[in-house]
Amino acid sequence: MDELAGKVAVITGAGSGLGRALAHRLGSAGMRLVLADIDSSRLNDVGGELDDAGVQVATLVTDVSKRSQVEGLADLAYEQFGAVNVLCNNAGVAVVGSAWECTDADWAWAMGVNLWGVIHGLQAFVPRMLAAGEPGHIVNTASAAGILAPPLSSPYVATKHAVVGMTESLFHDLALRQSKLGCSVLAPGFVKTQIAASESVRPDELKNPVPSSDPLMAEVGKYYADEVARGLPAEAVADAVHEAIVEGRFYIFTHPEMTPAFEDRFSRMVAGKNPKTRPLAASRDDGKSS
Ligand SMILES: NC(=O)c1ccc[n+]([C@@H]2O[C@H](COP(=O)([O-])OP(=O)(O)OC[C@H]3O[C@@H](n4cnc5c(N)ncnc54)[C@H](O)[C@@H]3O)[C@@H](O)[C@H]2O)c1
Repeated sequence: MDELAGKVAVITGAGSGLGRALAHRLGSAGMRLVLADIDSSRLNDVGGELDDAGVQVATLVTDVSKRSQVEGLADLAYEQFGAVNVLCNNAGVAVVGSAWECTDADWAWAMGVNLWGVIHGLQAFVPRMLAAGEPGHIVNTASAAGILAPPLSSPYVATKHAVVGMTESLFHDLALRQSKLGCSVLAPGFVKTQIAASESVRPDELKNPVPSSDPLMAEVGKYYADEVARGLPAEAVADAVHEAIVEGRFYIFTHPEMTPAFEDRFSRMVAGKNPKTRPLAASRDDGKSS
């Protein structure tokens, strides 16, 4: 898509971090915006910022894990603006822990937001985007944790690997139909956002009764919070997404220092070698694997 001005973008998880930065980036490119977030106060703030900047914006409090709410978001977008040209399935939460220690609530929350959120976005918007027959683009936010498999992060890694695979499959599905829609998968390393404080938006019905007492969990929580705090500015990632939409580029990698870690993983895989386990502090040195 080379012309974004006047077109319409939908962004989920737009109340903070990458979603907020993306809203500002696409708004300043002249797009009209439909913004969604589960947190009404964050969403109102971002809606107000964009309104003040003269961007045409509609907001809707939306839990992307709920199909009916994402369908409501699509209804709003088409009622308000009559089209959707760019869809950013971006909302996500950080859920860490080993597979067997994570509770069903942990798994349901991670899968509900990070995976079903993307599925719901595709189901609610793609049929109408295809029917319009206009050029368009879909960006699914995964993570470098969808390319690498860092330790103590099973639910997050599972959902982000799923988003990478599903989006690549989507790329082929759109091409086979000779559609005018393109797609990209965003796979950043650490970005300075509120992701380490995701617990604040965990629904009550999915909260754990007692926090884990495993000392490794305290270590991993601190490690991720520290790395996110010194991560790339969200605005730099938003610039990369904007560029990828305009250029029709599929993979959006924003952390070139991680390339050796990607290469190492895939070369071990094709050589049939075991993965190499590193302490968390070593991951910091060799790849910033988020
Ligand atoms: N920050 C990083 O280091 C990093 C790295 C790789 C990928 N990501 C991915 O980037 C995306 C955006 O995260 P971020 O880093 O900007 O974090 P963030 O916490 O700053 O923003 C995420 C937003 O999503 C919203 N959200 C959470 N659950 C939701 C739900 N059920 N429905 C709708 N909105 C919901 C939150 O309220 C928040 O405003 C996520 O998919 C995340 O996994 C982040």
